[in-house]
Amino acid sequence: MVERRLAKLRLFFALWPDPQVRQRIAMDVEPALRSADRSTMNPVEPANYHITLAFLGAVSASSLEDIVRICSDVRFGRFSLELDRTGYWPRSRIAWLGMSHHSLELEALVDDLWNKLADLGFRQEPQPYQPHVSLCRKASGGLGISLDSPINWPVASFVLAQSTSGEDGPVYTVLEQFIAGD
Ligand code: 2AM
Repeated sequence: MVERRLAKLRLFFALWPDPQVRQRIAMDVEPALRSADRSTMNPVEPANYHITLAFLGAVSASSLEDIVRICSDVRFGRFSLELDRTGYWPRSRIAWLGMSHHSLELEALVDDLWNKLADLGFRQEPQPYQPHVSLCRKASGGLGISLDSPINWPVASFVLAQSTSGEDGPVYTVLEQFIAGD
């Protein structure tokens, strides 16, 4: 009982792509990764593609119920994203897929989430929010991916996910799904 109360869960809210979007991203990324040296680079498994909305870090398991309850009140409608650019962050050595245009709906969803989370004492990091799908970790540069056309990602829900460490990297488990209203 005591152990359960003290257990920490590494949690984040995210957009989880449907199988079609996941497959489209994988198809566009695969040629660039075909020649990747996997002893040095760490391509993200397509099953792990997502866009983080809010990263909570290590959270007491006992807070999970409150987090789910309070975030169930976030109201949002369906919208879609256009993933149309790739990039590379040298500090984190992440090659990523993202958007060249801000999505107002996405920003509103992230703001609403953080407003709710603030009631539980969570604080958004001061760095600007940069929505992205991580494609490759420990990358030494951009992947040189050319997108033939933007990838359309219809958003009809978001999830609360847990990250645990697996033998081959992080394992993500969806704990809860929050569905868009009409
Ligand atoms: P990343 O893919 O850019 O590393 C689970 O770890 C998710 O939370 C990943 O999408 C990861 O982003 C993101 N994440 C991890 N640490 C974070 C942090 N300190 N701030 C914001 N997002 C973070």
